Amino acid sequence: MTDALPTPPRRGYLRRLVNELRPFRRLVFLCGLLTVLSSAIGLLPPIILGDIVNRLQRGERVNTLLYLLMIAGFAMSEGLLKYGSGVAISTLGQSFLISLRDRMLGHMQRLPMAYFEKNQTGKLVSNVINDAGTVNNLITSNGNQMLNDAVQLTFVLIYLLSINPLLTLIALSVAPFYVWNFRNFWRPLQDTSEDIRGKRDAMYGQMQEKLVGIQTVKGFGQERSEARAFMSTTRELMGLNITQGRLGGGLWTLADALCGVATGLVLGYGGWLCLQGRLGAGTLVTFLSLSVGYVYGPIVRFLTVLDPVARAQAAMSRIFRTLDTENPIHDAPGANPMPKIEGRVRFEDVWFEYEPGQPVLKGIDLTVLPGQTVALVGFSGSGKTTITSLLLRNYDPTGGRLTVDGIDLREVQIESYRRQVGVVAQESVGCGG
Ligand SMILES: Nc1ncnc2c1ncn2[C@@H]1O[C@H](COP(=O)(O)OP(=O)(O)OP(=O)(O)O)[C@@H](O)[C@H]1O
Ligand SMILES: [Mg+2]
Repeated sequence: MTDALPTPPRRGYLRRLVNELRPFRRLVFLCGLLTVLSSAIGLLPPIILGDIVNRLQRGERVNTLLYLLMIAGFAMSEGLLKYGSGVAISTLGQSFLISLRDRMLGHMQRLPMAYFEKNQTGKLVSNVINDAGTVNNLITSNGNQMLNDAVQLTFVLIYLLSINPLLTLIALSVAPFYVWNFRNFWRPLQDTSEDIRGKRDAMYGQMQEKLVGIQTVKGFGQERSEARAFMSTTRELMGLNITQGRLGGGLWTLADALCGVATGLVLGYGGWLCLQGRLGAGTLVTFLSLSVGYVYGPIVRFLTVLDPVARAQAAMSRIFRTLDTENPIHDAPGANPMPKIEGRVRFEDVWFEYEPGQPVLKGIDLTVLPGQTVALVGFSGSGKTTITSLLLRNYDPTGGRLTVDGIDLREVQIESYRRQVGVVAQESVGCGG
């Protein structure tokens, strides 16, 4: 099979995500451009407002109509740009989501039976639906917000430094405490959100398993004990969610308090400068609204975006693990299509083991002629299903040869072979198309 991808470096998920976005690069560029323009234009109104206050303070005439037109014009352009970027971003998000889910399900369906036996169905469903959705969220909502904030933060810092470097440094003086706050809460928050994910997956899987096997549960009168087991998982999940809320609450409260301190410091020193006539009142107005709204706002958001980023990283690691899982049962190089089957089946000294060192089939020799009906009878666990799995080439023998019409199954194209083999399962599954 050709879709076996190399294993990614453990921490290279974001880089790989960028690679995955390559087919959508035009749309990504358009989203980025519209976001950058709308963020930059959003900064102009506070600057204009400061200019008006400064002019009024100096007793200059203010051309009200011009300012009104400028403010209205900038607000309208910002609105239009935001609308455009919103449309572009949802188009990007949905196109990416569809292509990712399509690839994941397509890849999963080509994986060997062993993969489905080892992974709970609920987890696989959650992988295609929830994990892909989480990554999409990262790109559309968080990624866009981060770009917006980064642009504004850069422009604002340059502008503030050009007005008054000392006041800017005072405004930024609480930033180290933000970093401390981040270091304090980040790791526990990340661990908790990963635990929540794992627990939620386990809950889905558990529920799915018990509902699919409801006959057994009812048959053994296990409803109460199953409900108790489910409750215990749910309670653990509740505890984790409360921990997450507590950690998040602590982070936010401290961040807000630090923001208040910064505002107070700017007002104190800036007000003193104004009283001394070394800073225009309008400039202080601009300074305050830019430093509070556009410096601490983005820093707080950068902090809060860490959680979705952590969640998306965990989701990406699961997605890439799925996409990187290789199928050992694949067409040999140069494999030919299976000719029309007559039906001569031969097991020649076939050995097979699911787990290394624990053979399940030991030297099976069996010949079935065309038109012959064969019933395999044996104790449970003797290997009947395993024999049929080998015949369907869900697995390859670990020793010996399995031929149909004298052709080793490993030498033909799997699809061309399976198309000619009929299976009647005890439980039927409807196939679309
Ligand atoms: N996916 C698997 N991984 C590991 N061991 C397996 C797997 N599937 C089956 N086995 C083991 O292989 C042996 C043969 O199993 P198999 O399902 O072929 O038996 P069977 O004859 O079909 O049994 P039954 O009559 O219960 O259907 C058993 O010991 C079983 O535990
Ligand atoms: Mg069986």
